[in-house]
Amino acid sequence: MNVLIIGSGGREHALAWKIAQSKNVENVYVAPGNGGTANAKEKIQNIPLSNFDDLVKFSKKNNIDLTVVGPELPLSMGIVDHFIKNDLKIFGPTQEAAQLESSKDFAKSFMYRHNIPTAKYQTFTNIDLAHKYINKNGAPIVIKADGLAAGKGVVVALTENDAHNAVDSMLSQNKFGDAGARIVIEEFLEGEEASFIVICDGENILPLASSQDHKRLKNNDVGPNTGGMGAYSPAPIVSKEIHGKIMKQIIVPTIKGMKKDGIKFQGFLYAGVIVDKDKNIKTLEFNCRMGDPETQPLLFRMKSDLFDILSAAANGTLTNIETEWDDGYSITIVMASHNYPSKYRTDDQIYNLDHNKSDSFIFHAGTKKINEKIVTSGGRVLGVTAKAKTLKEASHKAYELVKAIKFNGAQFRDDIGQKAFDKIDEK
Ligand code: AMP
Ligand code: GLY
Repeated sequence: MNVLIIGSGGREHALAWKIAQSKNVENVYVAPGNGGTANAKEKIQNIPLSNFDDLVKFSKKNNIDLTVVGPELPLSMGIVDHFIKNDLKIFGPTQEAAQLESSKDFAKSFMYRHNIPTAKYQTFTNIDLAHKYINKNGAPIVIKADGLAAGKGVVVALTENDAHNAVDSMLSQNKFGDAGARIVIEEFLEGEEASFIVICDGENILPLASSQDHKRLKNNDVGPNTGGMGAYSPAPIVSKEIHGKIMKQIIVPTIKGMKKDGIKFQGFLYAGVIVDKDKNIKTLEFNCRMGDPETQPLLFRMKSDLFDILSAAANGTLTNIETEWDDGYSITIVMASHNYPSKYRTDDQIYNLDHNKSDSFIFHAGTKKINEKIVTSGGRVLGVTAKAKTLKEASHKAYELVKAIKFNGAQFRDDIGQKAFDKIDEK
């Protein structure tokens, strides 16, 4: 079988790495891929295409049996609809279904309509009404651009002043262009976050292991929001009880609700969940794809054949399948480029990347290969990943590697996984 993966991040390197391990897979093409997939030894190769028509032509010519879409942008632009129209098998939601991620207003009204727990909210295009709502509700309060903004369209405003500024930046200064021409203002929720990702064939649901991301740039969850600075799996906050609640209150009603609304949801469904001190859960957001960096620790400890699972899901036959995972924990530390998440520097050469073993792996994200050198080319550069029986041990291994890898301006957090250490010790 031949597989095409769309995207160029750490998530796509991990997907390619994992899918290439299937005995049923001969070739994995990554469009456009990164320095890590360019360097991969077996089965994996990059193709420099992104236009949907070119990808369809390539897929027909190279007998692609399954396409897997990594990021949200092509999904929101209808890549799945385009492939289906051309009789090509693809795993991911249609443009209509992907609105769960591409429009916060769509997701919020969907959740309200189907009684899925989420923060109270209101949607605005009128700036005066938005300011009035903030005056009435006070801070902390959360302002979100309606459309896709690469993880940067959310402002958690701790003061009313910050909230007013966020409204101005989106509705009057066009900070996010069309994506911010409509905004959602919602209640601030307190608690601990977890990422809960399932695979869905439109009907049947297969949950993956739990994970936890670290969205802020700096240690102790301070600094600006990023795409994610590190993740680990499983997340102890998702106990058996919380797992059950997430499935019953969020995941099942979402898939059923979409169906009821006449929209089949096939693809990865990622619920960002917040668990409060009384163990109540609420949905922070939906993504219609796997998380990045959550994919890296998740797939690093997945024992099942991901290709077989995704093929079954794309064929609508995801029944009687369970996922198997390594015991213990995996962790990914993101190394980011100079000045990320603001305007970052690129083209710094990266040294000492040759460390991949059975219990550790360096997934590339914003890297490219030039001659035989690997240089930085994006904000998040590497996902240094390790696994072990305990999270502490996995973390120690990953940080030893992080220390060995060198590039100018590298930024990383020292405390990925720390929150879970105490919880695990308590048991
Ligand atoms: P989102 O893209 O909607 O997940 O938002 C990005 C991040 O902002 C989340 O991971 C949370 O850390 C934070 N956030 C979003 N919505 C809320 C909320 N209602 N209350 C508190 N924090 C939030
Ligand atoms: N790591 C968060 C996300 O992928 O949206």
